[in-house]
Amino acid sequence: MTTLVIRNIAELTTNDPSIGDESPLGRLRDAAMVVDDQQVLWVGPNATAPDADESLDANGCAVIPGFVDSHTHLVFAGERSDEFEARMAGVHYDGGGIARTVDSTRAASIDDLREGVTKRFAELTAGGVTTVEIKSGYELTVEGEVRDLRLAEEFTTETTWLGAHVVPPEYRKDREGYITVLTSSMLDACAPLAKWADVFCDRGAFSIDEARFILEGAREKGLAPRLHANQLAHSGAIALAVELDCASVDHCTYLDDRDIDILSASATVATLLPGAEFSTRSPYPSARRLLDAGVTVALATDCNPGSSYVTSMAFVIALAVREMAMSVDEALWASTKGGALALRRDDVGHLGLGARADFAVLDGPRAAHLAYRPGGNVVAQTFRAAFTATDVST
Ligand code: NIG
Ligand code: FE
Repeated sequence: MTTLVIRNIAELTTNDPSIGDESPLGRLRDAAMVVDDQQVLWVGPNATAPDADESLDANGCAVIPGFVDSHTHLVFAGERSDEFEARMAGVHYDGGGIARTVDSTRAASIDDLREGVTKRFAELTAGGVTTVEIKSGYELTVEGEVRDLRLAEEFTTETTWLGAHVVPPEYRKDREGYITVLTSSMLDACAPLAKWADVFCDRGAFSIDEARFILEGAREKGLAPRLHANQLAHSGAIALAVELDCASVDHCTYLDDRDIDILSASATVATLLPGAEFSTRSPYPSARRLLDAGVTVALATDCNPGSSYVTSMAFVIALAVREMAMSVDEALWASTKGGALALRRDDVGHLGLGARADFAVLDGPRAAHLAYRPGGNVVAQTFRAAFTATDVST
């Protein structure tokens, strides 16, 4: 296996508190790192870096762990820029446009769908993302959800069945009928293709009781639960996420003190998606209150054509810093280690010894450039450990 040494790293963020400055960011200055095709082999001072088969000069730039984008809806066809324009002129987002994307996705050929996912995946990768979660949820038929999960599996092991995104138009008068399909034939067909099950548990989507029923059924089929919650309104969805030991509860736009207390006493990560608040002109979630209460926070893009057509984690970090009062270091950690925890992974999101060799070399001496230069191309190069067939089957 080929080894590579990266020399002259002005600032190396490892997210391993046993390394460097012993902060959660595990930061080393004037550092070097050695990796092979799979994992991190060595990190330490530049002056004592060992030789390797190949060498890369970081030229005084910063290196960070690859971003872990733990919440995306990359499988879709079509676009809804007209809705975005209407929202910027004052129209309220209520998720109603999901049905339009269901129509266009159902009508798309698999080749067209694959082309779209490939393009968005490449944009994420160029921006430093090395692990991505991908949901189904824009076909809402047995065959369609299977098709979307199979496609997602071509790109990641972090596949999520979101058959319970909304009740599709043909079941509008038979909600119970759709829930029966969800928890029987659709779940049977989708369970072998997904690691996670997600439900959009919110006003106009699925209720608390429905979400509990669907996620408990999914768990029996081996899928681990996660939840879209409190994007549109206050509900009991945060408590449900904790009750079900969800790895993550996502959006958290509307939170009260009780929600924060419940989360702080749990192992459930709060994944914040500020691209959605930006694109729907909604209030940003209370990241500060969550962090100050000791809740584990992750940041993700939520890339989808309706509420957040965002493929840049740097943009998400800039929003978190500017609009949610997170420090740059908190936002960087939430986008890497936080995302890994939201997917219950300990091999990604950090650059400690044995971690996957997933990292990004920045165009700038400090990771702060991610937020300091919004809209620029701050990620110079993304390195991702080999993606093998075994990854897909695990
Ligand atoms: O995470 N809220 C539910 N699902 C997506 C948006 C879907 C859409 O508008 O197409 C989200 O924001
Ligand atoms: Fe989402």
